[in-house]
Parts: sequence; C-alpha cells; structure tokens
Amino acid sequence: MAQIRLDKFISERTEYTRSRIKQLAASGDIKVGGKVIKKSDTKIDPENDSVEVCGEIIGKDKHRYILLNKPRDYVCSTNDNDGKNVLELVPPELRTKGLFPAGRLDKDSLGALLITDDGELAHRMLSPKSHIPKIYIVQLARPFEDKYVDIFKNELQLSNGETCMPANVKSVENSEYQAFIELYEGKYHQVKRMFAAVGNHVDVLMRLSLGSLVLPEKLAIGECMELLHKDVENLFAEREFNAFLSSFSGFFSANLINI
Ligand code: URA
Repeated sequence: MAQIRLDKFISERTEYTRSRIKQLAASGDIKVGGKVIKKSDTKIDPENDSVEVCGEIIGKDKHRYILLNKPRDYVCSTNDNDGKNVLELVPPELRTKGLFPAGRLDKDSLGALLITDDGELAHRMLSPKSHIPKIYIVQLARPFEDKYVDIFKNELQLSNGETCMPANVKSVENSEYQAFIELYEGKYHQVKRMFAAVGNHVDVLMRLSLGSLVLPEKLAIGECMELLHKDVENLFAEREFNAFLSSFSGFFSANLINI
C-alpha cells in the first residue's frame, strides 16, 4: 500500500487543519502504532497504521464507508441468491469484511447508496426515528401537476391506507415529466407508491442525496468512492430542500432518460 503523509491522513478524517496537526504533533499529541510522532510530514501506511490524535483513534480501527452510484438491475442485499448484488460493484481495494448496503434502493432504482461495515451507524440512519431527509429525482410517465405539492405536504394516503409523512416535491425546471421529491422516511417502494396514489407512474428513480451527503456528478453509474469520516457526519446534517435545488446543476436530470 502506498504511504501517505500523516498530516494528509489526519486532515482528511478530522476537522484539524494541517497547521494545527503540526502543532499537535510537536506537542506529542499524535501517536502512530502507539508511538509518539513529532513530525507531521512523517509517511504512514494508511491501511495498516493505527493513528491516534489527542487520545482518539482515527485510523485503522475505524469503519469503512463507501458511496455507490447504484445502477439498475443490482439488488441491495448480502444474499448471493438474490441476483446481481451491489457488493459486487465494490472495487477490490475497498472490499473488506462485513460490508453491507445501509438502506435499500429497489432493483430498478439508481443513485446514492451507502455501503459500510458500521452496524451502529446503519442503525442510526435507518431507525424509524432518524428521519434523515433523502432527495430523489424521478422521470414520470405523465406530466407533473402543481397540485402534487400540496397533496404531498398533507400526509398523502397510499392505496393500502398507510399515511405518509409530509414530503416536499417540485417539478424540474424545463421538464414537465421530471420532479424532485424529498422524503423523511423510507416505506417500501414509497416514491413509486406516492406518485401512483396521485394517478402518475415513476419510470425512472434516482436518489440524489442522503442528509447533506450529495451524489457527486463525477461518480459515474456503477462507481464507488470511499467517504472520508467527516463526509459521513454529513449524513446526519440537515440540508434545506430549496438550497439543494438551487445548487443542483441539472447533470442527472439531463441524463435521466438515457440511463
Ligand atoms: N422509493 C421507491 O419507490 N423506490 C426506491 O428505490 C426508493 C424509494
């Protein structure tokens, strides 16, 4: 494994700046493999060295977090008998024991999916009490209707009688067949069932964000990237729906029907 600088390793995983890391090292607050390291430009092995800053382990013993841009036809499961599995898309250099998809996207859905070995974080994320906002973009079979905005805000009832928490929905500019929808819960096939309840149909569904963690445009469909520990905290940070929409570049919307 290629060696990297200690200050780079720490700054990617914490809020410490490189100059602060230099000071902490000089004052004996950084250990690698249990030994105090006084120079922050020391090279370390990021895969195998255990790094401790002010008594907190931030290296080796920590969990792995991977963001996948899920393609169609892969299932979110750890069972080999369910067909093509999202774990097959994790490249060998990121494959470690105990990885599983934290959350579900349907077999025909696309977009942001977290894969991790951190059961505690997955539990925090998926607990019905957590209400992490998730934003999706959908391609609809029939034109978006403005009335959906109020209907989705007012506890829409699904065909089986289940009631949904208030959700935000907005049409995509210059595209009457596309919409963004933000949910704070995750019922089975929820987005598809909500649009079905108002007489529409979802042809394509892609998840664009989990909390404040936004699917980067540079992550092609089927590709994975390892998340830095500080990015993982973004999962639990709120991001205003309208702020998300105003920063949306249109990239995924332009490509949605061709995926
Ligand atoms: N809602 C759906 O209907 N499907 C998904 O994959 C995710 C949310």
